[in-house]
Amino acid sequence: MEHPTENTNGSNGAGAVGIMDRLRVATAKQHDDAENHEFQQAFFAGRLTQDQYVRYLVELHHVYACLENHIRSASKDRPELAQVVAEENYREADLVDDLDFFGVAPGSSNPTPATETFMSHTEVLARTNPIALLGMHYVLEGSNNGSKFISRNIRRAYELTDRGVRTLDPYGSDQRQKWLDYKLRMGELELSQDECDALVQAAQYMFSALGRVSSDLMPEKLQNVGT
Ligand code: HEM
Repeated sequence: MEHPTENTNGSNGAGAVGIMDRLRVATAKQHDDAENHEFQQAFFAGRLTQDQYVRYLVELHHVYACLENHIRSASKDRPELAQVVAEENYREADLVDDLDFFGVAPGSSNPTPATETFMSHTEVLARTNPIALLGMHYVLEGSNNGSKFISRNIRRAYELTDRGVRTLDPYGSDQRQKWLDYKLRMGELELSQDECDALVQAAQYMFSALGRVSSDLMPEKLQNVGT
């Protein structure tokens, strides 16, 4: 039997491919680019200074808090959001705790221009097509798969055990199961073709936006954006 062929959007045109498969296929190239980004490479290798790492956490706090707040508010009208994003999937408290460990307040640095743009875009999406926020959230939740490995290098580089690295490794040895649970919940949603397309588009936007945020955090750029 012939397998359905997928186009570059990760769709086989018949809507028969599950949303999680579509998201993975449609963002695979962007994931490779994210892994190869200069900032991510330095981060992965534990080559950022501790200050640069903490500055990254401040930026992630802006990103996560923005998306998570919109998801919480929008789930009143779109309960599917809460059906997928369980309480355990919220990361803002971990970011606050990591920052507190380093004695840094969330919001101590203003969002970079790329983060500002992301925040405006997310606000519009939350108003106009809130279900698409799930596409953005998929990228953050999925990134835990890689962050878990990265957290080993971060622990070694800055001599951390648990605190200071909770955001990168929120589930410990349960990571695989938590990811399977999340995929299952997302896969159970009954989404229209248009809604699936909106999730895919939002996930692609999220990868691009995070790439631009990483670029803003390159040391030579940071000097120009209030730290
Ligand atoms: C050096 C950086 C990175 C490494 C080494 C890495 C590594 C990984 C690994 C090992 C997986 C698990 C694959 C699997 O078990 O199926 C994964 C999944 C994933 N990562 Fe990354 N990653 C990195 C950066 C990123 C970044 C920056 C993002 C987001 C912007 C991201 C988003 C994702 C997503 C969404 C998935 C889930 C893919 C799926 O649908 O199965 N990753 N990554």
